Amino acid sequence: MLVSSLNSLQLHETFLKNSPMKTENNAQNVPFNPAQQAWLSGFFAGMHTQMLQSAGSSDNANARLIHILYGTQTGNSESVAHDAANMAKAHGLNPSVLSLDEISKDSFVKAEYVTLITSTYGEGEMPDNAQMLWDEISADDSIDLSAMNYSILALGDTSYDLFCKAGIDWDERLEKLGAKRLVDRVDCDVDFDEAAEAWMSSVIPLMAEGAATVTIDTSADTSAVKYNRKNPFPATLTANRLLTSADSSKETRHYEISIAGSELNYEAGDALNVIPTNCPDLVADILKAIGCTGTEDEPVNGELMPLTEALRTHFEIKLPSKELLAAIADHSGDKELNSALDDKEALTNYLWGRDTLDLLLQFPSIQFSAAEFIALLKPLQHRAYSISSSGKANPESVHLTVASVRYSSHDRDHKGVCSTYLADLVDDSTAVRCFFSPNKVFRVPENNDLPMIMVGPGTGIAPFRAFLQEREFRQAKGLNWLFFGDRNAATDYIYQDEMTAMQESGLLNRLDLAFSRDQEEKIYVQDRMREQGAELFAQLEQGGYFFVCGDAYRMAKDVDKALHDVIATHGKFSEEQAAEYVNQMKKDKRYVRDVY
Ligand SMILES: Cc1cc2nc3c(=O)[nH]c(=O)nc-3n(C[C@H](O)[C@H](O)[C@H](O)COP(=O)(O)OP(=O)(O)OC[C@H]3O[C@@H](n4cnc5c(N)ncnc54)[C@H](O)[C@@H]3O)c2cc1C
Ligand SMILES: NC(=O)c1ccc[n+]([C@@H]2O[C@H](COP(=O)([O-])OP(=O)(O)OC[C@H]3O[C@@H](n4cnc5c(N)ncnc54)[C@H](OP(=O)(O)O)[C@@H]3O)[C@@H](O)[C@H]2O)c1
Ligand SMILES: Cc1cc2nc3c(=O)[nH]c(=O)nc-3n(C[C@H](O)[C@H](O)[C@H](O)COP(=O)(O)O)c2cc1C
Repeated sequence: MLVSSLNSLQLHETFLKNSPMKTENNAQNVPFNPAQQAWLSGFFAGMHTQMLQSAGSSDNANARLIHILYGTQTGNSESVAHDAANMAKAHGLNPSVLSLDEISKDSFVKAEYVTLITSTYGEGEMPDNAQMLWDEISADDSIDLSAMNYSILALGDTSYDLFCKAGIDWDERLEKLGAKRLVDRVDCDVDFDEAAEAWMSSVIPLMAEGAATVTIDTSADTSAVKYNRKNPFPATLTANRLLTSADSSKETRHYEISIAGSELNYEAGDALNVIPTNCPDLVADILKAIGCTGTEDEPVNGELMPLTEALRTHFEIKLPSKELLAAIADHSGDKELNSALDDKEALTNYLWGRDTLDLLLQFPSIQFSAAEFIALLKPLQHRAYSISSSGKANPESVHLTVASVRYSSHDRDHKGVCSTYLADLVDDSTAVRCFFSPNKVFRVPENNDLPMIMVGPGTGIAPFRAFLQEREFRQAKGLNWLFFGDRNAATDYIYQDEMTAMQESGLLNRLDLAFSRDQEEKIYVQDRMREQGAELFAQLEQGGYFFVCGDAYRMAKDVDKALHDVIATHGKFSEEQAAEYVNQMKKDKRYVRDVY
């Protein structure tokens, strides 16, 4: 085959001969720097391997095709999809693993064997890469799926009201359109491994029933990553720097985490997941409150360990689980808590600023044995952080921009688990357990000439620092325009030196700032967008990409509204036409968000 007869070095050389990057570099007589060289070699080695892998997988072509589709925001569903693909191969099937935005509506409708794994995001919403197909499938009642056999695995988190809503919606829709459910949907909480394994063990053999037996390539699906949630990389923290001023009303920090020796690489736009450990002082206070010593041995994941250790490393001890709340409500008979349990808004208000320890201190007469207590806790989860460096410019180091969660309520100081683990508990001898989540759509445009408009207030600036580093690395000529905002210019203008230097070098072409608390009336990034509406619309008309990162619940919604308004006003469109324009941008992946 032509492709496999070329080795990665030949591909590399062929690319360098034809590369626009080379031309630009030659024109300016600037050679590739060592990091660029290393990236190019890695890129071509990867490309070569991928080509060989796809050539090898054709052995399965005569086996029954099953589509393993996933909708994901942070990679959990994708990793389950790859596990399911390995099991499918072992059953003589030919699995095709695709994200829900990699399959067209037509191909989806024709698919005969479908396993669909999806998480839920926002408030009961589809993950971004499932939204488009969902819109198409949910809008068209004429679709006939009677030839489809399917099963759904829904990933979610019981602490959200609309638990596993995206998976439930898909399940109901496919059934309504005539598809045959082979195995009942399984809804998984944050500790989804066992449930996912059980689900695939029941659905995959059923999908293989009656299929012709063929000789197949059962090698493991190598697109699954080496380090993941179950096998995190033990990284080292090499920098921890305060970005906000000491007298700021908030604390935002810059971290650098070394991934040297991991052979991992990442792209600007990806997230790093950090698995924290709980604060020892909080563990001690909780032990005291429940009347345990901490030396009690308890089984955790099939292993006996002292309660102190279990609370430190295995359980979420800050945010109370629904089960713990119910147990406390039951034991205490407290009227306010009992009535809040049936009322979403009342419960949100009740829990605002209250953590597990507050509840235990509020009802001191309730005592739990060690076993009773941990049975009411959820597993300690990793926290995701949008990476603020480019993996090409910094191949061995990952930068994060993290706001430390610290607040006082109920007469105590409270700390966010992971943000303050990084800030206070990690030193250079600590193994920071982490793994990447690729975000395949949140990427610097391939075309280096297209405009990039980035809206990232607060910690939302993180991926845009990475995007700017990436554009510089590529020597891209397209316009770079950043909307940034925070509370006060004097104390919260994070990365100010870098932004100023990027402006001076001509990398950052436009910077619009919105400091909300420097005047009486709040000024937000969306106000700046409206002020610059004519120019913003002109850049979108040039094929510009529009990126948003940061708070999902208020900022991203208001920015979305402002985008619609700008397009309607300056494109002279009706509301509906503006909505269509925005939808088309989403379809073209020119309007993408990384919001949390
Ligand atoms: C894809 C993604 C990317 C992200 N990127 C970033 C990033 O780049 N930078 C970043 O800083 N964060 C980012 N986050 C958020 C991050 O994952 C954590 O949620 C955040 O750091 C808080 O985690 P924690 O463990 O410190 O706090 P937790 O222990 O999880 O505590 C947070 C909880 O504390 C309570 N709380 C917080 N503040 C107050 C208050 N003032 N008063 C009362 N109660 C309060 C709320 O109940 C809140 O849910 C991202 C999230 C996602 C999903
Ligand atoms: N869902 C989540 O878990 C989540 C989401 C976002 C942030 N956080 C956490 O909150 C902490 C601080 O986050 P941060 O630094 O990113 O941001 P932030 O401090 O919450 O806000 C950054 C800027 O955005 C402004 N802002 C507030 N409402 C807005 C709106 N509707 N539209 C546009 N701008 C708006 C703020 O103004 P004012 O404050 O003056 O109004 C401030 O100037 C962190 O701990 C972070 O992890 C959590
Ligand atoms: C910002 C945010 C919103 C979420 N909203 C929901 C929700 O409404 N319902 C739910 O069941 N799970 C919700 N989840 C939990 C995710 O679905 C869960 O963590 C899942 O394992 C993520 O899988 P993924 O990595 O494939 O996206 C939310 C998680 C985050 C970070």
